[in-house]
Amino acid sequence: MKFFIDTANLEQIKEAQALGVLDGVTTNPSLMAKEGITGKDNILKHYVAICNIVNGDVSAEVIATDFDGMVREGEALADLHPQIVVKLPMIADGIKACKYFTDKGIRVNMTLVFSAGQALLAAKAGATYVSPFIGRLDDISTDGLNLISEIRLIYDNYGYETEILAASVRHTMHIIDCAKLGADVMTGPLSAIMGLLKHPLTDIGLAQFLADYKKGN
Ligand code: E4P
Repeated sequence: MKFFIDTANLEQIKEAQALGVLDGVTTNPSLMAKEGITGKDNILKHYVAICNIVNGDVSAEVIATDFDGMVREGEALADLHPQIVVKLPMIADGIKACKYFTDKGIRVNMTLVFSAGQALLAAKAGATYVSPFIGRLDDISTDGLNLISEIRLIYDNYGYETEILAASVRHTMHIIDCAKLGADVMTGPLSAIMGLLKHPLTDIGLAQFLADYKKGN
């Protein structure tokens, strides 16, 4: 399972990278705004800064919602760095742009996916990644994890190579459940990744080992 971090915060990206388990980064306009990164030039520079920290794919989202605008913005994003994956919204023009970029060998992450039908379209358009937002489905009393199972079944039925990128992961159990269901990738906050480390028996066992070592030395 690939681990992506879902943030535009460079310090958190560096911390996850230093842990040695980071495979990429996802961002979105809200995450950029949260870090105070505004204005086209600053946003583009920030994507390059992220690419220079990680050794993996960095999803960069277009703002345009029409085909021509998405193509223009997506080409500029893809030109920034070879690690950039163009992130497109799951709307009709987004699917058209996905096919356009895929035919040109530019990788795409289809975002804001909330149904199996949308994921099927993303695969048919040749997306590299499809991003079902499980946390936002949970927020409205709909089982986000069930969507991961549905997409896994459909993709396996037909051998689609589009990778299921479980997005809107909010906590550690989401990561474990997505791993059980066969999501190819998860993207979540640093806190959810670090949560995987925690177990009281590890802390108790380590303290005991160190205490016993001190007794004999
Ligand atoms: C995915 O690429 C999105 O950036 C993200 O996972 C959205 O998560 P949220 O629902 O926590 O905002």
